[in-house]
Amino acid sequence: MNYRHIFHAGNFADVLKHAVLARLIVYMQQKDKAFRLLDTHAGIGLYDLSSMEAQKTGEWREGIGRLLAAELSPPAASFFAPYLNAVRELNPDGGLTYYPGSPKLARMLLRPFDRLSAMELHPDDARALARLFEGDYQTRVTELDGWLALGAHLPPKEKRGIVLVDPPFEIENEFERLVDGLSRAYRRFSTGTYCLWYPIKKAVPAPAFHEALKALDIPKMLCVEMTVKSDREATGLTGSGLVIVNPPYTLKEELHAALPDLRRVLAQDRYASHRVVWLRGEDREDV
Ligand SMILES: C[S@@+](CC[C@H](N)C(=O)[O-])C[C@H]1O[C@@H](n2cnc3c(N)ncnc32)[C@H](O)[C@@H]1O
Repeated sequence: MNYRHIFHAGNFADVLKHAVLARLIVYMQQKDKAFRLLDTHAGIGLYDLSSMEAQKTGEWREGIGRLLAAELSPPAASFFAPYLNAVRELNPDGGLTYYPGSPKLARMLLRPFDRLSAMELHPDDARALARLFEGDYQTRVTELDGWLALGAHLPPKEKRGIVLVDPPFEIENEFERLVDGLSRAYRRFSTGTYCLWYPIKKAVPAPAFHEALKALDIPKMLCVEMTVKSDREATGLTGSGLVIVNPPYTLKEELHAALPDLRRVLAQDRYASHRVVWLRGEDREDV
């Protein structure tokens, strides 16, 4: 396990993932009933962007750095507000030093009766995460293989929840594990909202991944993708995608309204693109 998220915290892929996660949490809170967020690959929770590691790649400058400084249209400003407000709250002096990973962002948004379960397999990262939430009765951090949590920790006892699956894609069969993990989890907890992250870069088999997902017997799956540059020259990440199972019914429209602004802000060349399509369900003909 070589992957350390500190090198990538706040990059363009984190921006899309965390903005959508924050929206999903806000939607859950439209009902008074408690819910649980299960974060299967949680990382360390809080990132110091002034650290040597974050400075070395500087990826956050092309991600949250750009978005935080941007002028946004009203629909985009409203879409990104829960996420950007959390980032601003962590940086009360107006700069950008601290960046919330998914568990920290989620925790900042939870109501006193909502719960967070966070899994992290890297021992150092799991320890750092446990320290961050020490004494917090709403949060449980476990040093555990997140793929196992998709079985053992579902359904949550609240019977309402969001499951974020954000693996590092260090090993070859991560797409297969995502499909298999979702399939197992959905059998145990079919009313949950799932958010699966995946990379977009040259030679990454996203179409095959989508086909495998479509073959699962899951009726509502929305896919959102954004690329920030062409993959002709680049060998690394050029974009990222999210598959959202059981999305809130307004999410697609909101993404349609907000993503043109995000693309404008994050674009690194003229080939930046975005799309929001149903893989299964609703107006499936747009796939
Ligand atoms: C992309 S990072 C997570 C970032 C985090 N979700 C966020 O948005 O802030 C992936 C994390 O998964 C951890 N990891 C790798 N394999 C794992 C596994 N099988 N179970 C749980 N965590 C794992 C890595 O150590 C890394 O911290």
